Amino acid sequence: MYSLLGIFLIGSILVGEISSQLTLEDRDKVKWASSPFENDTSIRTFTIKFDQEVVADLRRRLSQKRRPFVRLEGINWEYGLNPDILDYWIDYWNNKYNFTQQEAVLNTYTHYLTNIQGLDIHFLHIKPQVTDGCKVVPMLLLHGFPGSVREFYRALPLLTAGCHNGIALEIVAPSLPGFGYSDPATIPEFGGTEIGTVMVNLMKRLGFNQFYVQGGDWGSIICSMMATLYPNVILGYHTNFPLSLSELSLAAWWAGSVNPTNLVDASLQSRMFPFVAQMKRLLSLTGYLHMQSTKPDTLGIALTDSPISLLTYYLMLLARGGTSQFSNEELLDNLMIYWIKNKFTTAARLYAESFNVRNLREALYAKTTAVPVRTVHAQNEVIYQSEAILRLKYTNIQNATALTQYGHFLAMEAPQAFSQLVLDAMAGFESVASGTCNKA
Ligand SMILES: *[C@@H]1O[C@H](CO)[C@@H](O)[C@H](O)[C@H]1NC(C)=O
Ligand SMILES: *[C@@H]1O[C@H](CO)[C@@H](O)[C@H](O)[C@H]1NC(C)=O
Ligand SMILES: *[C@@H]1O[C@H](CO)[C@@H](O)[C@H](O)[C@H]1NC(C)=O
Repeated sequence: MYSLLGIFLIGSILVGEISSQLTLEDRDKVKWASSPFENDTSIRTFTIKFDQEVVADLRRRLSQKRRPFVRLEGINWEYGLNPDILDYWIDYWNNKYNFTQQEAVLNTYTHYLTNIQGLDIHFLHIKPQVTDGCKVVPMLLLHGFPGSVREFYRALPLLTAGCHNGIALEIVAPSLPGFGYSDPATIPEFGGTEIGTVMVNLMKRLGFNQFYVQGGDWGSIICSMMATLYPNVILGYHTNFPLSLSELSLAAWWAGSVNPTNLVDASLQSRMFPFVAQMKRLLSLTGYLHMQSTKPDTLGIALTDSPISLLTYYLMLLARGGTSQFSNEELLDNLMIYWIKNKFTTAARLYAESFNVRNLREALYAKTTAVPVRTVHAQNEVIYQSEAILRLKYTNIQNATALTQYGHFLAMEAPQAFSQLVLDAMAGFESVASGTCNKA
């Protein structure tokens, strides 16, 4: 009797009968943690503090490195991080990084908290400086993994500096739940889609019932889910990490091998083909993804206990982005946010909570959306897909730009170029929406 019930239950989960019938209302109602602030709709401010005890403990751990292993002959980065670069970084973090000064840098912007669905959500909220004769448009700006709002510190003043083709941006940049200064869920099944709902509710709390979204990495994936689930809320989606990963898109990509020119401009072919070589490259870069999608807590124990492990893992992930254009301080500030708030594990869980049977069955990643979309690909982005492939998911792409420089962490690496692209995109969305111009 019970086993029959069990089989029925498991069966229904596998065919998605339970989760995929969640309505938007159901999604709204879920409380992901219980918090003293769970019935409190106020918006609070706080300042980031590096407690002296925490810093002293961190420095003690950084001083206790064991020489981990001897590299294989002739091997550089092929087996993972080349440990020869570690001493430099450990020394820098321990002895050169100015904790007092960087704490102040992190507090350049006012930090806000408000409780959404049981979770205290941290965000920056930057209003544009000049608004005379200018339409102010709201934009949600989302970071990814292993990132934080720190990635946007140089871009934010540029994005909000003034009037650009008739528009000025009002920006909300949150820490994703489970990251930085935002609470993690305390019950399972809080994946990218669920974060999307929390983000819509955050924007509503701030008075924005409709808004634009911009994201890279996970920020982009979450924005994409929002555009799919909430087409009437999302005015436009700008991404520097566009993905269309449905079975159909992958099949079309693979089939495109026969005659790539059907799918992609000749100048960009080598970013997509040969297909098998591209897949091999992606596999070699994404071992972390499989681990985090299955056993994030195991990894979390090691990286929570040792800042050197955290640093190693982080440097490996940054190297994947194909760039090293950040200052040491930017890189270590970002790590400090993970370390101080002990958020590596809860951030890494985003993979496990998103890449699972429930989400595969729900298949939001394969559902089309007609929300206006503008995409940009950096030269060294981890994955490139042409507009023809992206259109299988995004039916209303207004502009797809391929850059001939930069990498995965575009906002942090090239704040000037990033800001220009985002402002152009937002002005473009607005002019199409108001009919001033068909395509800008
Ligand atoms: C929040 O409100 C609900 C419903 O009134 C109540 O059951 C719950 O205890 C409240 N939670 C807190 C932390 O006050
Ligand atoms: C660290 O920064 C603080 C604040 O800017 C400054 O007063 C202090 O001299 C700096 N310490 C070192 C060792 O440079
Ligand atoms: C697409 O956007 C890029 C970057 O903003 C811009 O340079 C380009 O002119 C746009 N293309 C079209 C066809 O509007």
